[in-house]
Amino acid sequence: EHPKVIFSGIQPTGIPHLGNYLGALKQWVKLQDEAAPDTTLLFSIVDLHAITIKQDPKALAKWKKEMLASLYAVGIKKERSIVFFQSAVPQHAELMWILSCNASMGYLSRMTQWKSKLALPDNASPLDPSPVSKAALKLGLFSYPVLQAADILLYQTTHVPVGEDQAQHLEFARELAVGFNHMFAPDAKSPLLVPPQTILSSAKRVMSLTTPTKKMSKSDPEPKSRILITDSNEVIHKKFKSALTDSIDGNAYDRESRPGVSNLIDIMRHMDEDITGSDKEWMKELEGLSKRSLKETAADRVNNGLKDVRGRYEEIMGRKDADEFLEEGARQGGEKARKLAQQTIGKVREALGI
Ligand code: ADP
Ligand code: NA
Repeated sequence: EHPKVIFSGIQPTGIPHLGNYLGALKQWVKLQDEAAPDTTLLFSIVDLHAITIKQDPKALAKWKKEMLASLYAVGIKKERSIVFFQSAVPQHAELMWILSCNASMGYLSRMTQWKSKLALPDNASPLDPSPVSKAALKLGLFSYPVLQAADILLYQTTHVPVGEDQAQHLEFARELAVGFNHMFAPDAKSPLLVPPQTILSSAKRVMSLTTPTKKMSKSDPEPKSRILITDSNEVIHKKFKSALTDSIDGNAYDRESRPGVSNLIDIMRHMDEDITGSDKEWMKELEGLSKRSLKETAADRVNNGLKDVRGRYEEIMGRKDADEFLEEGARQGGEKARKLAQQTIGKVREALGI
């Protein structure tokens, strides 16, 4: 049994929202806290991925800091996990290039992310998009999954916690690893690149508070659609108060016909690990609540779950030396990551004869 290596990444989008927290970050913390002593954990703020779409450089620099402080605030411990900026480890780009020499254009063109970012139909082809999208489709956006594969394979990662939307990218990473091993190290005792397993996040999609048929997202122009993990109790209550529900009497879980109510129930359920075995009793308590009380209950629960996170974030950002503290944390994380990355790159280069 090889020791586990867990890797995951998040884009530098500033302070995370509740969807990021319940869908990803909360699980990272759990994995970290429950990890065996010999498990390596890496959490990367993937700034090279962020620039596949246009970014304001000043905002990007700020969002990187806010995301790093947020990772510490949610409970990722820099003494236990390697927390780093992707761009601090040049081996990501190096392995990406190497892998891209064996990445099939056909496979990449069937992936959906570049299509959704450009709002193209699912059957769009890179060789035959409209003239407008042809200009908008940049090589980096198209080959994004190769960089993602490099991120993972660079650390001999065994497990990658991700949301469902990333499952196809993980499959691609596995195929690249298997193909690479087959071509360049067919007789090796241990694989040159480790095909990683997916750990699917248990949290379903957290939906927008104001349009519960859409997922909660940073890019939603309506700020009340999302809770930020640093929102005050007052702001949390305000946002939940304006959440869209329905005018049906009583509360029941039905994502199809009662998306607003169901989203509130899901949020409460995912906030609190304890609500699983006693789900039924807990639902009984919610059934008869007015919509107003339901929203208040949800707001209270979210506030309770986030108040320590908020406190730690404020503590970090309130330090006189906040910038130096974050830079030093990132520097140390980057150094640890580069050491591990270089081990893989060394072997890969040797196998390639370069
Ligand atoms: P956004 O959609 O706001 O741009 P990202 O794409 O950067 O967020 O997502 C970062 C992580 O958070 C990913 O693991 C993603 O699966 C998760 N995530 C984002 N939004 C949600 C959501 N509404 N519900 C559950 N998980 C989410
Ligand atoms: Na997303």
